Amino acid sequence: MKPLALIMLAAAVAPGQIAPTLKGAYEGIFRIGAALNPAQFEERDPRGNPIIAAQFDTISPENALKWGSIHPRVDGYNFEPADRYVAFGEKHKMFIVGHCLVWHSQTPRWVFENENGEPLTREGLLERMRDHIRTVVGRYKGRIGGWDVVNEALNEDGSMRQSPWYRIIGEDYLLKAFQFAHEADPRAELYYNDYSLENEAKRKGAVELIRKLKAAGAAISGVGLQGHDKMDWPTARQEAETIEAFAALGVKVHITELDIDVLPRTTRQNTADISATAAGTAQSNPYTAGLPEEMQQALARRYAELFEVFVQHRNTVSRVTFWGVTDGDSWLNNFPTRGRTNYPLLFDREGKPKPAFAAVVQKAKTN
Ligand code: XIL
Repeated sequence: MKPLALIMLAAAVAPGQIAPTLKGAYEGIFRIGAALNPAQFEERDPRGNPIIAAQFDTISPENALKWGSIHPRVDGYNFEPADRYVAFGEKHKMFIVGHCLVWHSQTPRWVFENENGEPLTREGLLERMRDHIRTVVGRYKGRIGGWDVVNEALNEDGSMRQSPWYRIIGEDYLLKAFQFAHEADPRAELYYNDYSLENEAKRKGAVELIRKLKAAGAAISGVGLQGHDKMDWPTARQEAETIEAFAALGVKVHITELDIDVLPRTTRQNTADISATAAGTAQSNPYTAGLPEEMQQALARRYAELFEVFVQHRNTVSRVTFWGVTDGDSWLNNFPTRGRTNYPLLFDREGKPKPAFAAVVQKAKTN
């Protein structure tokens, strides 16, 4: 499509005409979602809320259901934000995702220690994991439709990450987490979620991990590809091969945290590891005054390229969720380098659809 046509598609629609929406365009193809922050699920975001209500049929909680948010103290849960998140999704009749049960980040240190500050035993940590999963999944039973049960268990070379979960419990911590989640809500979909699975070595590790989990009887229904993408990574081919590798295992693929970083790299590796931060330089924040038109169009083409692959694999891909609503909300304004101005999503800082929005809607029509 020519740039001008993309701009016209993104422009305001004439009165009386029904504007295309993401969820409308993708109805019958796959669900389209966004990760929400508290202002959004508490309906205090006048810019974001109308977009969310109109455009998305599934939501994820950006932080509210992570261990550190919902279970900050050994004897204390903080359910209110998560309750409001779930109520918001029900009010809007959305498919509600839970993110995430077992992860090494945003998990307090006490989780892995006894009352004397010493490392827990395998049995002690399994008991704690089981309590947490039973409490959180049980509370939202029948309301949260799918859970990221384990997040980011793998290293870039496909080996197991030496997280406290792995070190203390051993490799079967994943199987246990899936068992506990399945016990707590037998009807919920359960996912393994990770980033950079488009890279061959890590993908192979994930395929092996899921194969073993299935062989051991885990009720795993899907794999989440986070999708923290760059303008040049992953390639369409890598994306297609990755989806096909998981399809061959008989699990669904969810694109769980999609965004496209348009800023210069400040870290050597392509990583979404939230601990991998870097300092900025004068050159690393070039678009504070706005995204140049040619970049805007390049981003639209890049989104079109990825959605082409997703739509081609619609029998395997059951959801595509963006990690945020407008560019101003995105974690990529602060990751991996703090205080930059990024443009990774489909709606700009004013809440207006960008050319990338039209490009994504268009892909639903042409396939
Ligand atoms: C991010 C959130 O967007 C930030 O608000 C938070 O400070 C750090 O975590 N992979 C994940 C998500 O699975 O939970 C992360 O979310 C982004 C990387």
